[in-house]
Formats: sequence, C-alpha cells, structure tokens
Amino acid sequence: MKNILITGGSGFIGSNFIHYLLSTEKSNLIINLDKLTYAGNPDNLTYIEEYYPNNYKFIHGDICNKKLVSSIFSEFHPEIVINFAAESHVDRSIIGPSDFIQTNIVGTFNLLEVSRKYWHDRKDVLFHHVSTDEVYGSLEETGYFYEDTPYDPRSPYSASKASADHLVMAYFHTYGLPVTISNCSNNYGPFQFPEKLIPLMISNMLEGKSLPIYGKGDNIRDWLFVEDHCVGIWEIINKGKRGETYNIGGENEICNIDIVDILCEKMADLQGENKDFYKKLVIYVKDRPGHDWRYAINMDKIKNELNFQPSVNFEQGITRTIQWYLDNPNWMENIKSGEYRKWIDKNYGDR
Ligand code: NAD
Ligand code: DAU
Repeated sequence: MKNILITGGSGFIGSNFIHYLLSTEKSNLIINLDKLTYAGNPDNLTYIEEYYPNNYKFIHGDICNKKLVSSIFSEFHPEIVINFAAESHVDRSIIGPSDFIQTNIVGTFNLLEVSRKYWHDRKDVLFHHVSTDEVYGSLEETGYFYEDTPYDPRSPYSASKASADHLVMAYFHTYGLPVTISNCSNNYGPFQFPEKLIPLMISNMLEGKSLPIYGKGDNIRDWLFVEDHCVGIWEIINKGKRGETYNIGGENEICNIDIVDILCEKMADLQGENKDFYKKLVIYVKDRPGHDWRYAINMDKIKNELNFQPSVNFEQGITRTIQWYLDNPNWMENIKSGEYRKWIDKNYGDR
C-alpha cells in the first residue's frame, strides 16, 4: 500500500485521476489536499467518499501553507506527491495574475521544500508535477512541441506554470529530489468547470445562450480525453525516468470553430433537435489578448519509452462528455446557482 498526496484533487483533472486510481488500484491511500477555490468542487468526489472511505482522506487547505503541508507529511508519510493544484484558467490569469503567482509558483516551491526536507536523500519516493504544453508558447502551421522545445510562455498562467516546472527540475539537479513532469495538451471530459471552452459551450447550449468564439475561431488545440491524461500520468509515475519530462497529447488537432460545430451537431443528435438549432447561437467576440494560435504535441517519447497511447478517440470522448453533462444536470446547477459554494462555506467556512 502506498500513501499518495494529491494536491488539487477536487478540480477537474485531479478528481478524474482519483476516480481512475481508486477504480484500478484499490490498495493505495490517497490524501487529497485542496483549497476548494471556485474551481474545487466536493461534488466531484462524492462517490469516492462513499465507496472508498478507507482509501481516501480529504484535507481542506492551501499548498502555500508550509505548516499544514509539513503536518501532512508527518502524519501520513506520503511516498508520492502528485501536484495538480493550480490556478488553471488563462482568461482569469489575464484579468488577475496574482493568485497564479502565489499558487502555481510559491505553492509548488513550498511542496518541493517540504518534500526535500521530509524525504532527505530517499530515492524510492517521487514528486510528480502536472504541467501544460502552454509553457512552450505558440506554433505556426507546422511543427510540434517536443520535450526539449525551449520554453516561451506568453500568458501569466503559462509563465507561472513554466516557473514551477523550472523549480521542479532545479530540485532534481540541485538536491537529487526524484521528480517527473508531464506537459499535457487541452483536456476535456466529465467534471470540467464551465469556464473552459467545451463545458462552457455545452452549458450555454442547454440554456439557449450564445456561444462566444474568440477572434476568428481558427486557433488550434490538441484535445485529449481526461481519462487518457490520467493513465499517462500514472504510467510516468510508475515507469518514467526520474528527472525527465514527458509530453502527453491527443494527436488530435482541431480548431475552435470546428470544436463548436461538432458540439452543436452532437448535441442536436442527442437531444433530437435540428442540426442548426444550436449553431445559430454562435457569436464571434473580441479575441483573447496574446492568444496562442496553435498547440500540438509530439508524443514519441511517451509512446516509445512508456508504451503509452491515448485509447479514446475524439468521437467517443466528446459523445461521452456531452452525455455526462446531460446525465448530471444537478452538478452544473449546483455550480451555476452557487449552491456548492454555500455548502463549502457551511462545512469549511471556519478554516
Ligand atoms: P482546475 O482549475 O479544475 O482545478 C484546480 C484545483 O486546484 C481545484 O480543486 C482548486 O481548488 C485547487 N487549488 C487551487 N489553488 C490551490 C491551492 N493554493 N492549494 C490547494 N489547492 C488549490 O484545474 P485542472 O484543469 O484540473 O488542472 C489541473 C492541473 O493540470 C493544473 O496544474 C493545470 O495547470 C494542469 N493542466 C490542465 C490542463 C487542462 O486542459 N485543464 C491541461 C494540461 C495541464
Ligand atoms: O493546453 C493546455 C491548457 O489548456 C491548460 O494548461 C489550461 O489549464 C487549460 O485551461 C487549457 O487552456 P486554453 O486556454 O487552451 O483553454 P480554454 O478552454 O480556455 O480555451 C480553448 C480555446 O478556446 C482557446 O483558443 C480560447 C478559445 N475560447 C475559449 C473560451 C472560454 C473561445 O473561443 N471562447 C471561449 O468562451
């Protein structure tokens, strides 16, 4: 049995990872440290709390709180730390970068410091840092992001993630801390907060609201179903070389307007509506400042070294995603109505 400290486990990818891990490897103890910011949602883990009470422990708190993180190490002796916790939304980082610097840089630094102090020279432990392809900047029509592509972050979000990646690697080179990093492309799937492109469009379609596309809608992202990202992370943790970075992508480049078209068609199919029913909601709005044009991942390293390949194609993944949102109207309603925030304030307001 391994004790695994997961940070940011109540967010989109972290909660999918906890579901994945507990459904495949039942013997671990997962300690989820999450601040429950606007993006952290206890509803994502209701099933886990109910079905795996002996394998799951939630701790409400901030990765920047050194005393708290140290006390978690002293009490639970984690052998693996997986750092998902972050401010993750590019648009929010443009409006207000401060929390991004604090959580993404200072928080990661704090976790590294406590890990280093607590683990000393142990080599049977691991600090895995979950990062993004946005650290590499923006591509033109050709080319891919490789693990050795120079960092060129353009937004406060990606600059904060790049800083954290550098700190993680510095702890490997300077202190010999066993680390790995994954740099992943755009994820989609269940439990994604409805500020990101795909869940926002789904939510707006269901409410008959307009579907805002930034600029011309020709920006390209490399989309990956979230469960495949979770499998990739677990492969890296188990088989990845310490001190290395692995890129994870979907080999699935689609421009934004095509994403929205596909969503409109799929939603119309599933809801028995006419094909154009949702498309007429599309509007073009002011572009995001510094909007990166294209992201695309080269996955040779993770494929060749770790035998990892995404298993869900976009057609399957997007159908499952839309169906999940249709099957879980309460999840969305709790977010939209603010009910989940009330619940958090009631249960955790005194901390
Ligand atoms: P999210 O915004 O859905 O969740 C972030 C979680 O971190 C929330 O539960 C939040 O409460 C928690 N958190 C924030 N600040 C905290 C703090 N100071 N202390 C403790 N917990 C805190 O994010 P996500 O989309 O699930 O992304 C998870 C990680 O994956 C992030 O590091 C992000 O940079 C990275 N990533 C995301 C994507 C994507 O497409 N969403 C792609 C590649 C990498
Ligand atoms: O590439 C990985 C990154 O993907 C992660 O590191 C980030 O955490 C995650 O948020 C995501 O960043 P993006 O900025 O690519 O995702 P977002 O969903 O915000 O936007 C996807 C594309 O859609 C982008 O080109 C902007 C565009 N967009 C987005 C929104 C919210 C629109 O056109 N309209 C919108 O309303």
